[in-house]
Amino acid sequence: MSLRDRRVQYETAGLDRGDLDTDPIVQWHAWYDQAASAGVAEPNAMSVATVDQHSAPDSRVVLARAVDARGFVFYTNYDSVKSRQLLVNPVASAVFAWLDLHRQVRVRGTVQRISDHESDEYFASRPRESQIGAWASPQSQPIADRTIIETRLAEFRAKFDNQDVPRPANWGGWCLAPDSIEFWQGRPSRLHDRFVYDLDTTTKKWKIQRLAP
Ligand SMILES: Cc1cc2nc3c(=O)[nH]c(=O)nc-3n(C[C@H](O)[C@H](O)[C@H](O)COP(=O)(O)O)c2cc1C
Repeated sequence: MSLRDRRVQYETAGLDRGDLDTDPIVQWHAWYDQAASAGVAEPNAMSVATVDQHSAPDSRVVLARAVDARGFVFYTNYDSVKSRQLLVNPVASAVFAWLDLHRQVRVRGTVQRISDHESDEYFASRPRESQIGAWASPQSQPIADRTIIETRLAEFRAKFDNQDVPRPANWGGWCLAPDSIEFWQGRPSRLHDRFVYDLDTTTKKWKIQRLAP
């Protein structure tokens, strides 16, 4: 079927203001739990967009590893392209696309490095091979071929043999603190339901508005 003719009818129950929690993080967890129960692949995957020094957007998928009152935490290499962009422009947007449920959540806000202590704790919980991979991969750097990574993996496996793998100083978490979160539910005939939570920076309260689809 051509891309032009591919259409899915979204026969979902819809979303009303009364269905929404007053706290968007609580609402996100309710939808995340439903996505996980429905068997959505990697329901914690989010596409994170950053901007470079020329204000050009750049996006990639990462995994949310904590979502709480602070915001959305993900882990990466601090020398990667995304991290360099965040150092210059500490703003980002993220999208969770739970397409099996005809749902999307969009997040916008500011980004801060989380504490070294929290990154240490999370790093210690990772599988050993992922820990060694964090040492071996100079993320986002050009490399001539895959053997470079395989050689580095072997070197770090030998280096950390019989000992715990420490967190590399250039690897850790960022937290996207939301000032806006939108919940989108697909409905028939493209008349979808959309609700956006905007943070009032003075009162620290969330204002909820319905948006036209
Ligand atoms: C499903 C999925 C999950 C991913 N999770 C992460 C992640 O948690 N952290 C990460 O640094 N990269 C993750 N990646 C790889 C990133 O998309 C990206 O290739 C990498 O972070 C380099 O991005 P950058 O060059 O813009 O910094 C993931 C990719 C996919 C497809």
